[in-house]
Amino acid sequence: GVDITRVRGETGLVTYDPALANTAATASAVTYLDGEQGILRYRGYSIEDLAEGASFVETSYLLIYGELPTKEQHDSFSRALSEHSLLHEDMKRFYDGYPMTAHPMAILSAMVNSLSTFYPEAQDSLNPVERERTIVRLLSKLRTIAAFAYKKLHGEPFVYPQNNLSYCANLLHMMFALPTEPYEVDEDLVQVLNQLLILHADHEQNCSTHTVRTVGSAQTNLFASISAGINALWGVLHGGANQAVVEMLEEIHADGGDVRKYIELAKDKNSSFRLMGFGHRVYKNYDPRARIIKDAAYRVFDKLGIHDPLLEIALKLEETALSDSYFTDRKLYPNVDFYSGLIYRAMGIPTNFFTVMFSLGRLPGWIAHWKEQIEDPSRRITRPRQLYTGPEARTFVPLSERG
Ligand code: ACO
Repeated sequence: GVDITRVRGETGLVTYDPALANTAATASAVTYLDGEQGILRYRGYSIEDLAEGASFVETSYLLIYGELPTKEQHDSFSRALSEHSLLHEDMKRFYDGYPMTAHPMAILSAMVNSLSTFYPEAQDSLNPVERERTIVRLLSKLRTIAAFAYKKLHGEPFVYPQNNLSYCANLLHMMFALPTEPYEVDEDLVQVLNQLLILHADHEQNCSTHTVRTVGSAQTNLFASISAGINALWGVLHGGANQAVVEMLEEIHADGGDVRKYIELAKDKNSSFRLMGFGHRVYKNYDPRARIIKDAAYRVFDKLGIHDPLLEIALKLEETALSDSYFTDRKLYPNVDFYSGLIYRAMGIPTNFFTVMFSLGRLPGWIAHWKEQIEDPSRRITRPRQLYTGPEARTFVPLSERG
């Protein structure tokens, strides 16, 4: 019922592509993704190589600046991250105003937006010096903001960053250390956390990255643009899926662990149940990130000596699904979220904090896209068209005559 002759783009033709499923909204040199083959590369480097050999800090540098850092660049980047790790003392008081039950994603986005009130120079996005300072500030401070949110929600005192620790070690320290007992950061957990953050660091034009680019296209400062991205990630259809997987596994466990029953339910077109953590809009092959995360899950469970019945249910679900033609015909494989929640759970991270961990990982990707866009001399504000489906022109009737 839409009259498409009424839609004119500046070059004459307007495409109608709801959800932008077939529209390349930008050109980008950051991430290559081939969903048919199951290939993911950041700046040309395979996700497998980066997860195996790089740290999250190196990967962040790679995504943001386009090249892996030299030793000197790496050291100076890490130093800068350490120097910017503290929050303004006034910002600490913001946490007092939130209820203990606050969702940490709301705290995260509000705090990141608030950074622009303490560093108004971030507004000068076109100034490369200010831009660089803002990037490093945000990368470092998001970690502190997240750790303080964790402490707030647990009613524990804030633990300040310890600058001799690596990025991930410092995060674990700020989240889990208590003033009353010594806390030793476990290097194996640091390694797994590095991997998890690397695997989530970018995924080309997903919903939150597109949001960051759209907001940034108005030349909005980095803090405000990323705050919008955090809100987009919060949605259950996006970053919230790892939480949904754990909740599904808990439900299956509570129901006696009958995996086949849930596989049949997922296949039943009269039921709204879907196998959470299975399938992907772009991957029509095994998600390469899921393979790496599955191995990491074994390592964490071994290391912590944890026997989690949910892991066994997850393994059984995967095995049963992948030997069923319903799933293989539709190319439904485990995605990145299928095992990541189980690892976070084993590390003692609560379910409603999973998406915060995802935000920490995705931050360098968001920054890389915001920077790529602002540095593009041909950039323009994002402003899509629409197909108008409302009424034709009508005559206004004053309120007194409307009856
Ligand atoms: N369980 C059972 N059946 C499924 C599932 C699933 N998880 N996923 C897709 N299907 C079926 C659909 O019913 C459909 O079957 P049909 O052709 O017989 O009608 C077919 O597979 C194609 O599914 P679509 O919904 O068209 O696939 P789409 O690309 O739109 O959706 C999505 C992808 C949303 C990820 C979907 O697979 C899903 O809902 N998965 C579960 C939720 C999830 O894990 N989300 C996280 C994604 S990763 C991320 O965002 C970080």
